[in-house]
Amino acid sequence: MEVERVQAIAATLSKCMDSIPAEYIRSETEQPAITTVKGKLLEVPVIDLGGGDSDEERVVRMVEEAGREWGIFQVVNHGIPDELISKLQRVGKEFFELPQEEKEVYAKDAESKSIEGYGSKLQKEVEGKKGWVDHLFHKIRPPSAINYHFWPKNPPSYREANEEYAEQMRGVEEKLFKWLSLGIGLEGDEFNKKLGGDELVYLMKINYYPPCPRPDLALGVVAHTDMCALTILVPNEVPGLQVFKDDHWYDVKYIPNALIVHIGDQIEILSNGKYKAVFHRSTVNKDTTRMSWPVFLEPPEVLEVGPHPKLVNDDDNPPNFKTKKYKDYVYCKLNKLPQ
Ligand code: SIN
Ligand code: FE2
Repeated sequence: MEVERVQAIAATLSKCMDSIPAEYIRSETEQPAITTVKGKLLEVPVIDLGGGDSDEERVVRMVEEAGREWGIFQVVNHGIPDELISKLQRVGKEFFELPQEEKEVYAKDAESKSIEGYGSKLQKEVEGKKGWVDHLFHKIRPPSAINYHFWPKNPPSYREANEEYAEQMRGVEEKLFKWLSLGIGLEGDEFNKKLGGDELVYLMKINYYPPCPRPDLALGVVAHTDMCALTILVPNEVPGLQVFKDDHWYDVKYIPNALIVHIGDQIEILSNGKYKAVFHRSTVNKDTTRMSWPVFLEPPEVLEVGPHPKLVNDDDNPPNFKTKKYKDYVYCKLNKLPQ
């Protein structure tokens, strides 16, 4: 069956048109025009990593507080060159601007169990409603997990940009897990060990949100927490990330060239609930294409993740979560089954 790409639908709607297909119109409890706090940008914690090793204690305190109270923060002076981020964004945009049939070469087939490939639908849809977004998923680390079949050959520099980005991301990833671990009173390497060490998977996703005639009625990605351990995201310049804070939805204020870090479900579980996975969603724009590049840091599929043994005991700290294989967690989440 032919799959309908949002990009192709958007291209057929004329500029002066004021309607979208019914399956993209959210219920009133979700429509961004009704449910977003107006006139206020949410300033999530900003953590400056430029202070060097002597500044580590301050950074650990900030990461711990942000992880506990917000589940999201931005990091600046993270060491990944701005030019490399621009290059990653350029090649991703060039891929999505290829003719539709060239992109379909990378489409995931409906039977495939793997998440990798080009697609438009990720999870079981609530009330048959669709998100105004297309995507591309492929793993970028560790080398043994990479399947180049899903990496675009065009533009030719796509591969180099993604390989360089994966390499640079390593330094940031290692530090973040160390600080999250220290922040909770564990040794610096304990989170990393429980999440797979060198086998930790980096899953790249590109979200492509075409212009939408009715951004007041549609959503890009619906409200969710990320199921991975940690997400490190760069957006393009078009706003759209929203966070649920104190019972309300807010637009997040972007800091140019910052990395946006989301705490995901596996860190919430590993910390036995001390760190909180952030509930978030994305909106779309009337005139411009929004894009974002999250990298999901995930335990290997067969690894069991549960509350860290040092954080639970029989008396006053019972485990708040089940211990289960990451692939079983993902299956339940995508099919909306209880965990
Ligand atoms: C997502 O959470 O998958 C999308 C976030 C974004 O596009 O900023
Ligand atoms: Fe997300």
